[in-house]
Amino acid sequence: MSGITATGQKRLVLISGRAHPELAEQIAECLGSELVPTDSRTFANGEIYARFDESVRGSDAFVIQSHTSPINEWLMEQLIMVDALKRASAKRITVVAPFYPYARQDKKGRGREPISARLVADLFKAAGADRIMSIDLHAAQIQGFFDGPVDHLFAMPVLLEHMQRELDPSTLTVVSPDMGRVRVADIWSDKLGVPLAIIHKRRDPLVPNQVSVHEIVGEVDGRVCLLVDDLIDTGRTIVKAAEALKASGAIGVVVAATHAVFSDPAVELLQSEAIDSVVVTDTLPLPAHKRWDGLTVLPIAPLLANAIREVFTDGSVTSMFDGAA
Ligand code: R5P
Repeated sequence: MSGITATGQKRLVLISGRAHPELAEQIAECLGSELVPTDSRTFANGEIYARFDESVRGSDAFVIQSHTSPINEWLMEQLIMVDALKRASAKRITVVAPFYPYARQDKKGRGREPISARLVADLFKAAGADRIMSIDLHAAQIQGFFDGPVDHLFAMPVLLEHMQRELDPSTLTVVSPDMGRVRVADIWSDKLGVPLAIIHKRRDPLVPNQVSVHEIVGEVDGRVCLLVDDLIDTGRTIVKAAEALKASGAIGVVVAATHAVFSDPAVELLQSEAIDSVVVTDTLPLPAHKRWDGLTVLPIAPLLANAIREVFTDGSVTSMFDGAA
């Protein structure tokens, strides 16, 4: 037989953006691996540069970035890293975006609006991404925006395990803060074996244009309510929901959310008397000034590391979630 043959092994390469290096380091540690040393810089005019200090040729590369503020900068950095990997002959490139940027802009609600979540998927594709890994997408259909495999992970097992330890199911009710979260809240109520309530926000017909009233479907009087949401941004949605629950007789309100965006004034609002405790994951960095006694932050790195291992070894991500992913 003539010609050159190669029987090399697959090589896992982990790259981190600068937004949340602690998360990437924890993922690497869970995998018993290390991050590729990278020279990342921002020039005086705001342009970003990235170069890997070692060869990535032929590798199975995972580019980890947390899309926290300033989100456009971190998105651009991840795109540039993907481009650099493509031009350095990485064999397969996976964008790891635990919190998918622009996920809330997933449809045209009114004329002349963008669908920015789709634009982000197109940008990842154009840069050279082969697949995307994300957690609790704001809308599941975002998976279809990217023309390639999307590993949609769920933080529920991480949050659920904590809640099962901390809360008494005999007085507990799971609450969806709006109609959009009902499906997820329903799964929570099944897993915990407790009743479900739903908050329906609607306009007060007597006060046009602005005031909305919270109608609660389900029994919350005398119950501890577990409000579940995918993300907390300014905190207004969840605090109003908690206040409505307390006004309807709830004896406690615990909040569980995957993505702690915590834009101002979230930290102040979430310390409201209507909320007993808030539990989130660290898909996004949470500096000390965004933490308080009533906040619990659960590590998401083990979940991401397991998913990366499954993808790298051609295993099954679905098997991590009882066949649901
Ligand atoms: C809404 O559909 C989302 O699930 C969140 O409830 C919302 O985007 C959170 O935003 P904020 O915390 O600013 O009210």
